[in-house]
Amino acid sequence: MGPSSKHTPRSPTYLIPCVIALALFSLTGLLLYKVDDVASRTGTVVGHNLEPTPWHVFPHKPFDEESRQQRTYKILQCSYLTCRYAAGAVGGSRRSFAGGREECPEFFRAIHRDLAPWLESRISKAHVAAAQRYAAFRVVIVEGKVFVDWYYACVQSRAMFTLWGLLQLMRRYPGKVPDVDMMFDCMDKPSVNRTEHQAMPLPLFRYCTTKEHFDIPFPDWSFWGWSEINIRPWQEEFPDIKQGSRNVSWKNKFPWAYWKGNPDVASPIRTELINCNDSRKWGAEIMRQDWGEAARSGFKQSKLSNQCNHRYKIYAEGYAWSVSLKYILSCGSVALIISPQYEDFFSRGLIPNHNFWLVDSLNLCPSIKYAVEWGNQHPVEAEAIGKRGQDFMGSLNMDRIYEYMFHLISEYSKLQDFKPTPPTTALEVCVESVLCFADEKQRMFLNKSTAFPSHKPPCNLKPA
Ligand SMILES: *[C@@H]1O[C@H](CO)[C@@H](O)[C@H](O)[C@H]1NC(C)=O
Ligand SMILES: *[C@@H]1O[C@H](CO)[C@@H](O)[C@H](O)[C@H]1NC(C)=O
Ligand SMILES: *[C@@H]1O[C@H](CO)[C@@H](O)[C@H](O)[C@H]1NC(C)=O
Ligand SMILES: *[C@@H]1O[C@H](CO)[C@@H](O)[C@H](O)[C@H]1NC(C)=O
Repeated sequence: MGPSSKHTPRSPTYLIPCVIALALFSLTGLLLYKVDDVASRTGTVVGHNLEPTPWHVFPHKPFDEESRQQRTYKILQCSYLTCRYAAGAVGGSRRSFAGGREECPEFFRAIHRDLAPWLESRISKAHVAAAQRYAAFRVVIVEGKVFVDWYYACVQSRAMFTLWGLLQLMRRYPGKVPDVDMMFDCMDKPSVNRTEHQAMPLPLFRYCTTKEHFDIPFPDWSFWGWSEINIRPWQEEFPDIKQGSRNVSWKNKFPWAYWKGNPDVASPIRTELINCNDSRKWGAEIMRQDWGEAARSGFKQSKLSNQCNHRYKIYAEGYAWSVSLKYILSCGSVALIISPQYEDFFSRGLIPNHNFWLVDSLNLCPSIKYAVEWGNQHPVEAEAIGKRGQDFMGSLNMDRIYEYMFHLISEYSKLQDFKPTPPTTALEVCVESVLCFADEKQRMFLNKSTAFPSHKPPCNLKPA
């Protein structure tokens, strides 16, 4: 003891804090490295860390405005923390519905046809796993929570708005959407060929299908908005187009057919359509929509509600189906639909000569000319066809769309022969986490398409 003992502990007193500091420093470094590593492996609703789909390659999404650190922080915040603390805020209480139920529209019967391939085999885990080859993401709903496993990025904000739609469905029917496990693709063309997959049909949801495919059509993202080209949520766009269509009376509408769109989408029919561009000779006016130019001018010239001044409006499929069908039908003009190959969920409700006019793609220009001449000679009948097309779109309001989604998902879930559980790699997605990733413009569109709990039960789906 004594004075010597005062000196001996000196060196350890300095050493220990140093060692601790060093250890903390390396731990923090390790943690930061780990955190960065997790963030760099997390796929998100906007496409972070995801490659474009190999079956439809598109340019990589730019994230250049953020630093790496900001991006890491955002991914952790939005993907891992947001839903955890938002839990319970969404969803709302379970409600039981009172009162009688309306019948669903006739076209809802297509749900049974779309799901018929699995009526006998049912849908097993193996079916879902095999469909992954064609999927951009997998949605697993368990007890009202939505989990997503990401495989590939989707072009533009399709994934964000599609998931938003699903989350709004959960809000619309709290506690009513059954547990399901679904594979989705977000690109245009159907991919599950009926001939090739005859032995084992794969269940894959996308925005359209054909008679030759097993793909199951699901409402596309644009019903909730397409922010890149300024198309607002359907519940705002439809009334606006309808209002715009009334500005000019039938008599005063241009007595020829009009088409405005992008002919450069590898669509032979759109290319051919340019040959009909002569309002005197063929009764058609074909205009090129330049989305780049439209964006630069603030979309003033491309407002859909200003495009209802013709008695006839042409619908031509693009690379596959086109979201423009609903806007064309909304005008109240006679929709001249060029022999479509693709079906979306609602186009099965269209009836030729009743709510649209079928144009023969093999005899394109003369077929358009014939329709226009017939309509100008039969103005009452023509106007009525246009009006029925508009009424059909009017009846397809967001409530109907949620009913369709509800029934499609419910019928699908009845076919599953297993109890869905989210894969370990899936992350929960909730309203708050989507908003967390959305940019300002997207947030505005998403906000406007928020759904509220239904007071009525969904319409009554007739059995198959
Ligand atoms: C489906 O596959 C068959 C056989 O490979 C092929 O002949 C047919 O063209 C394909 N159908 C479509 C729509 O791609
Ligand atoms: C319809 O007409 C009104 C009044 O002339 C005008 O203010 C409005 O912008 C027009 N709407 C469209 C879509 O053309
Ligand atoms: C169609 O013709 C009109 C008038 O002649 C022209 O302004 C327009 O650019 C033409 N459309 C296309 C796609 O070439
Ligand atoms: C939409 O935005 C408004 C204004 O910022 C806000 O008051 C409202 O709560 C938002 N609605 C939803 C459903 O998020």
